[in-house]
Amino acid sequence: MFLPQLLKKTTSGEKLAALTCYDAGFARLLDAAGVDILLVGDSLGMTVQGHPTTLPVTVEHVVYHTEAVRRGAPSAFVMADLPFGSYQAAPAQAMENAARLLAAGANMVKLEGGSVMVETVNFLVTRGVPVCGHLGLLPQSVNQSGYRAQARDEASARQLLADAVALEAAGAALLILESIPARLAAEVRQRLAIPTIGIGAGADCDGQVLVLTDLLGLTERPPRFAKDFLAGAGNLGAAVQHYVADVKAGRFPAAEHSF
Ligand code: KIV
Repeated sequence: MFLPQLLKKTTSGEKLAALTCYDAGFARLLDAAGVDILLVGDSLGMTVQGHPTTLPVTVEHVVYHTEAVRRGAPSAFVMADLPFGSYQAAPAQAMENAARLLAAGANMVKLEGGSVMVETVNFLVTRGVPVCGHLGLLPQSVNQSGYRAQARDEASARQLLADAVALEAAGAALLILESIPARLAAEVRQRLAIPTIGIGAGADCDGQVLVLTDLLGLTERPPRFAKDFLAGAGNLGAAVQHYVADVKAGRFPAAEHSF
């Protein structure tokens, strides 16, 4: 699937259900369960490699997992993360590494940051690379912000809104909003024409994303926005199907998963 087909779903009002995915077996299962976006997230540094942060993840790691995911789900929409240090130095560096992720099978790359990334986003988009932005809690900036909900005061909320508008103007086609007040996510959605995908950002987004291990109850200290869909579902396929159905119907996230 390519970006125009994905976006067509949101223009007809359908919510997008996204999940992180790191290997072929889960790619097959997630695709069969109706997941719209398989995200080869740099969360693999924590969920697969066992690091305390995403920072040690390299482009080679993301390429390896993207190739596996693509083999498992040949026609799925696959998004891959540009890892820490692979795009911040210059637009040309970002282009070089984004090209490696697309060659590995990704349909789109994701990068973290707001106005500071505008030039890079525009550089990629005008050279054939679809880009998803990522605002709010930025795991690659954990050394500055920690793993805490973001944009909870008025000034940082206004900054996030300005960043979202700037990323859209630069050509980003999707925007992930992580761990921000639900009210702010709703305001961002209202201001933008591009779809927003929330994780800990309330129900008023065009879609939702979760880290796969959070959905499967494998995370030792799950974040507030996580929900164990495996509990009570019986098997992995049913758990993912319940997640997709709940996102599409607007049942997930509930108020208790939001800030
Ligand atoms: O890497 C990842 O899993 C992500 C999600 C938190 C959106 O970026």
